Amino acid sequence: MNLVEQIESRREQHLAELCELLRIPSVSAKSEHKPDIERAARWVAANLRQAGFQHVEVVPTALHPLVYAESLEAPGKPTVLFYGHYDVQPPEPLELWTSPAFEPAVRDAKLFGRGTADDKGQVHIHLAAFAALHKAYGRLPINIKVLIEGEEEVGSVSLWDYVQKNKAKLKADALVVSDTSMLGPVIPSITYGLRGLNYYQVEITGPERDLHSGVYGGAVPNPLTILAEIFAKMHDRSFRVTVPGFYQGVAKISASERKALKALPWSAKDFKRAVGAPAYCGEKGFSVVEQLWTRPTFELNGMWGGYQGEGAKTVIPSKAWAKFSTRLVPNQDPAKIAARVEAWIRKLAPKTVKVKFETLSLGKPWVAAYHAPIFQKAQAALEQGFGKKAVFIREGGSIPFVTQMYESFKIPCVLIGFGLPDENAHAPDEHMSLDNYFGGIKSIALFYESLANS
Ligand code: BES
Ligand code: MN
Ligand code: MN
Repeated sequence: MNLVEQIESRREQHLAELCELLRIPSVSAKSEHKPDIERAARWVAANLRQAGFQHVEVVPTALHPLVYAESLEAPGKPTVLFYGHYDVQPPEPLELWTSPAFEPAVRDAKLFGRGTADDKGQVHIHLAAFAALHKAYGRLPINIKVLIEGEEEVGSVSLWDYVQKNKAKLKADALVVSDTSMLGPVIPSITYGLRGLNYYQVEITGPERDLHSGVYGGAVPNPLTILAEIFAKMHDRSFRVTVPGFYQGVAKISASERKALKALPWSAKDFKRAVGAPAYCGEKGFSVVEQLWTRPTFELNGMWGGYQGEGAKTVIPSKAWAKFSTRLVPNQDPAKIAARVEAWIRKLAPKTVKVKFETLSLGKPWVAAYHAPIFQKAQAALEQGFGKKAVFIREGGSIPFVTQMYESFKIPCVLIGFGLPDENAHAPDEHMSLDNYFGGIKSIALFYESLANS
């Protein structure tokens, strides 16, 4: 059997295997899931061993283990580093799932479950491709190093340390990642840019304890109101971020890139259907695609304090909190942006409250040229797998490892995503299109095979 026949004949097995991985609730944010995280790491390691990797390790870290594997049986052939993550986002709110988050189910040719699109389904595309290549060739026909981590959804805290200490071990001719999206249904896509992410938390304290709002209301500061006022001032009428210096040095996209982005078959209708808001807003002077992929943003992610239970409680809370983040684009320095955001919030806060500001994580953006021959090979393989020419896109999400690898090794980073923007990553009813899953296995296997023939 040749490679493609190999894959076609084992469709059911591949899917059943993916479902096994999806049933492990490897939620990296919650310590109660530590045993599941470890089970998922061992599952991935065992799967890699079966796919022909001679050297496989589960590497303990300060938080969650990483899985590292290598097959270096193709002297003279290129070496690829494949990266992915086996951890997932928390499934809550559970009541909004049509079928349980960790009981994968197929409906309308889509596989539902936490991790289907982000990132277990996409990781498994590669695992299945490795297995098929191993079966077809009796060994892996290129040199492959694999790094699959368990902390991506919590900021890849342990990863940087590992990369720094294992530079020689991780050395490769190219990085391959499937943790991004396709531009739209049946539009295979290669991503050449991601935004960076800084994450922050602020705590505002007014009165030293909660107060009866009738006894004290009218003569004391209310931290919740003050927090709302501060965040209401973060954007101006053109939807630009008001933090002084926020846009300083921000790279302008070239006329040719602007033209290329404009020519993409991006659908405003699909975008609106996926969001479902009554109306839209965004930074003035930029198209939606430019706003999403090439412009920095400030987003409030959560705000809390005071009474949120049943019925009424007349209270002036002592404290109020917010979690928020900034997406960053080329030429913004994460540390400088964090300092400017902090200074601005401190400046906007009145004297009536105390401000505790924390920067939880920093992350640089990544944008790179796609001239290297490996990008044409990826494009050709995607065309064979999907019967459509692949497009080159940027995206608004963030993958810290890609930036780290690119900075450390300056190697081509080939991001081939098989998710779709409306597949509910991080939300209830996350799913993945089975066409993209199977088309993905075929494309990725052909891509690796084509690297063996270069
Ligand atoms: N797979 C996503 C990143 C992504 C999503 C890239 C869509 C491109 C398109 C990844 O798992 C993720 O969710 N990343 C986080 C950042 C991380 C530091 C927690 C994100 O982008 O918010
Ligand atoms: Mn992901
Ligand atoms: Mn994610």
